[in-house]
Amino acid sequence: MSKNLSRREIITRAVYAVGGAATFASVQACGSSAATTTTTPTTGPTPKDFPYEQHLPAGYRLDPAAVKEPAYHAYYEADGGCCHGSYSALMKHLAATAGAPFDQLPADFGRFGAGGIAGYGSICGSLLGGLLVINQIVSDKTARNAMMTDLLRWYEGASFPSYTPATVDAAETGKTTLDFSAANLVNLQTTPGSHLCHASVSGWCAARGVAANGPDKLARCSRLTADVAAKVAEMINTYLASTTTPKTYAAAAIDSRSNTCLGCHPKTSTTRPVASGMACTPCHSNQSLPSTHPVIP
Ligand code: HEC
Ligand code: HEC
Repeated sequence: MSKNLSRREIITRAVYAVGGAATFASVQACGSSAATTTTTPTTGPTPKDFPYEQHLPAGYRLDPAAVKEPAYHAYYEADGGCCHGSYSALMKHLAATAGAPFDQLPADFGRFGAGGIAGYGSICGSLLGGLLVINQIVSDKTARNAMMTDLLRWYEGASFPSYTPATVDAAETGKTTLDFSAANLVNLQTTPGSHLCHASVSGWCAARGVAANGPDKLARCSRLTADVAAKVAEMINTYLASTTTPKTYAAAAIDSRSNTCLGCHPKTSTTRPVASGMACTPCHSNQSLPSTHPVIP
């Protein structure tokens, strides 16, 4: 390995270490000859020490209320959007309150997820941002899966939007045609029925009679992003409060939106098996099924 490379490696490690600024300065002062003498041990967790639950201080909890306003405003950043909104708000909160390794990870990682991944209308990006954070923290597979299922299922049935920002974003001020005031918000709410961006956005826009790229849509999705970010923070807190080893998470039971179907369409079947936990009826209804099909209650 060349002297240059090993020096760069040392600097990288020094920046990661606790008290990185001071260590960095001393490496610079020593010049290239420092390569043989400086073997600063990495004293804090680094991003590769995954998952990160192990690095959270005992009794650590997020503040769900504190992630809402940043999530809402991050939505409006250039190249922002719903996934960036929820992901960056949660990650910056974790970095500020729990430190390493969250403060060593890019808060911009979620920008790809806007509009159901690059505008494709797949999973709602605010959910995707939240799932990425849950995945970074929760080590136990059973609990992790339960939390992810619970988040998706909650979203299908929740009324959005419900957050009213402390300060309306400059990008939005004076542009919406609908009344997003706290008093009127309930009149703008719909239940997405599906975790898909497409169903969530198209259903809401159709109900409100607005375009899917206009200021009203942005106002709706930015507030929804705050709602989802806070829900994720609450769920992580519930998980962290578990006293069992490994920690457990009690997901709400899969309800009639899919369990009436899965009784006859289990994934173990070889005729019309279904490998899905999502609510079925937004896409399949009595009307869309053949007349021979058992009537769905
Ligand atoms: C009582 C058992 C039963 C329940 C409950 C049930 N199904 Fe079915 N389903 C069947 C059978 C049997 C078939 C194949 C025969 C048919 O198509 O009529 C079928 C076929 C289907 C098909 C294929 C239809 C086609 O075009 O050929 C779809 C889609 C489907 N079910 C969706 C659902 C959904 C969604 C639910 C719940 C909302 C559901 N099923 C609940 C028994 C059931
Ligand atoms: C986002 C929309 C969507 C949701 C939600 C959804 N499906 Fe489907 N489903 C489809 C599409 C699209 C197909 C493939 C096209 C087709 O065959 O109708 C399909 C196919 C099926 C089939 C096979 C149909 C056949 O022709 O034999 C069954 C059975 C089925 N779905 C049941 C379910 C059940 C049960 C659920 C809930 C757990 C569910 N679906 C949720 C969209 C959806």
